[in-house]
Amino acid sequence: MQIAIYGAGGFARELAWLIEQIGEIDRSIEPVCYVDDNLQKQNTVLNGLPILSLEEARARFPSARIVGGVGSPATRKLLVEKAASLGFEFATVVHPRAEISRWIELGSGTVICAGCILTTNIRLGRHVQINLDCTIGHDVIMGDYTTLAPGVHVSGWVHMGKRVYVGTGAVFLHGTQDRPLVIGDDTVVGAGAVVTRPVPPQVTVVGVPARPIGQSKA
Ligand SMILES: CC(C)(COP(=O)(O)OP(=O)(O)OC[C@H]1O[C@@H](n2cnc3c(N)ncnc32)[C@H](O)[C@@H]1OP(=O)(O)O)[C@@H](O)C(=O)NCCC(=O)NCCS
Repeated sequence: MQIAIYGAGGFARELAWLIEQIGEIDRSIEPVCYVDDNLQKQNTVLNGLPILSLEEARARFPSARIVGGVGSPATRKLLVEKAASLGFEFATVVHPRAEISRWIELGSGTVICAGCILTTNIRLGRHVQINLDCTIGHDVIMGDYTTLAPGVHVSGWVHMGKRVYVGTGAVFLHGTQDRPLVIGDDTVVGAGAVVTRPVPPQVTVVGVPARPIGQSKA
């Protein structure tokens, strides 16, 4: 499978490496290009791969799948919708050194980076991004486009909404089957926060324990 990466920034380059590492085990998988809407970046080369427009990527690699390569949930949603409108299908990308039980559901376009451990009965939506070294416990749900930055720890029975952005090293205490810890859509959780209570939609929380500092910015 050929894979195009939508984006040409820091995470996109990390994603290219991730896909190369999968390719070392499964030779049929390879990153073929970056896609960037910025005209000045197009038709240049980044870490050995061409940066193309979406249209050019489709023309040059008609059977390639694509994966969102930016951390921001809102931006990733825009890019993914644009790619879908051109007929792209999406790659779900899991690093060979992520540990994942068979009781996990991953939506299309979701990315799991190296060092992550996902235990059991976990459901991740479409285009979710789990960066390096995260742990996700039992009975966790994450909505489409949610992003975990590196080193986030999510305990059992946490239900995150769509487009949630979680900063590096945040921790979520556990919920229960009767009362999952619910994190609303479009919430932002600051780096290093410890989330002990439900968070309403569209709020930014920071600190230990995490407290709201205002409405989240899209
Ligand atoms: C939470 C966050 C999104 C807030 O960004 P912002 O809305 O631009 O907020 P500001 O930087 O203006 O900070 C607002 C206040 O919150 C404080 N604050 C910001 N982030 C904080 C954090 N993670 N923990 C504790 N306090 C924090 C600031 O010190 C500031 O306090 P003050 O008003 O007393 O000076 C951001 O700071 C953050 O933590 N982002 C995550 C970054 C990350 O992990 N990236 C990973 C890349 S892979």
